[in-house]
Amino acid sequence: MEEIIPGSIIVTGASGSMGKAASMALAAKGHPVIMACRNPEKAQSVKEEILSKVPQASLHLMQLDLASMQSIREFAAAFKGARLSGLLNNAGTMPPRYSLTEDGLEQTVAVNYAGPYLLTRLLLDSFAPDAGIVNVISLTARYARIDRGLFEKGPRDFHQLRTYATSKLALMLFSIELAKRTPLHVNMSDPGIVNSNMIDLGRWFDPLADALFKPFCKRPEQGIAPAISALESPQTMKLFKRNSCLDVPARFLDNPLAGYLWEETARRTGL
Ligand SMILES: NC(=O)c1ccc[n+]([C@@H]2O[C@H](COP(=O)([O-])OP(=O)(O)OC[C@H]3O[C@@H](n4cnc5c(N)ncnc54)[C@H](OP(=O)(O)O)[C@@H]3O)[C@@H](O)[C@H]2O)c1
Repeated sequence: MEEIIPGSIIVTGASGSMGKAASMALAAKGHPVIMACRNPEKAQSVKEEILSKVPQASLHLMQLDLASMQSIREFAAAFKGARLSGLLNNAGTMPPRYSLTEDGLEQTVAVNYAGPYLLTRLLLDSFAPDAGIVNVISLTARYARIDRGLFEKGPRDFHQLRTYATSKLALMLFSIELAKRTPLHVNMSDPGIVNSNMIDLGRWFDPLADALFKPFCKRPEQGIAPAISALESPQTMKLFKRNSCLDVPARFLDNPLAGYLWEETARRTGL
């Protein structure tokens, strides 16, 4: 195992649309990047593509499956004593059907919320004092509902977009709670609607709507730009969107479920 370069920034889902754009942008700014990816083969070709455009990039590939608590624990263990500059929780999923992970959690909630929660908390001692943590949320969280039964939902409660939105709301509440509990900079970024693998043909919209709609979506580099600003920002508990750093609306800041979710998710992830 190679030494982790001090000042490295971890990007999860670095092989995806916005993850690749984030890794490229950070590397071009001179940050060493840890590309945390589920599929090492796909990630290797993305790494090569970035190196062809940014030859001076310092990129280190590591395997991470956010649907597996064991994978998360093995990944985090490699960072003992590291002085990381940042963590970009970018990986995300919106599966069309209900399924459970090996740990018995619904896939969307596991990958978009419980996994990043566990990863971030396991890494907390591995950051430099001025490090930034950025969680990629979604505008869908604004319309989401969440309750104490987050981890109890069965196949009949599953709806692709609603479950996704709830997972992103949970990630928002975690970000806020974490920002209250740590001196690190913890922020959220909202990419808007981005032309990426996630909104690929037939997965979200029907093909005709997709063909008409996609040209109006942002490019991945545009979608991830607020997250790059957030990573380098001295602010905390803010929402980065387009070119702005915004206060988080009070209804999220004061959500009475945040404390409960913090404790319950710790229990469910074995912390
Ligand atoms: N696209 C949008 O309009 C939009 C809007 C708001 C928020 N977002 C959020 O932006 C983030 C990036 O999404 P994107 O649009 O760039 O989509 P994407 O191209 O589908 O990228 C998603 C990334 O997450 C990774 N991933 C999925 N499941 C994983 C798992 N179990 N363990 C580790 N990594 C996993 C994927 O890995 P593989 O490469 O192996 O598939 C991929 O690298 C997500 O959090 C998404 O929810 C997207």
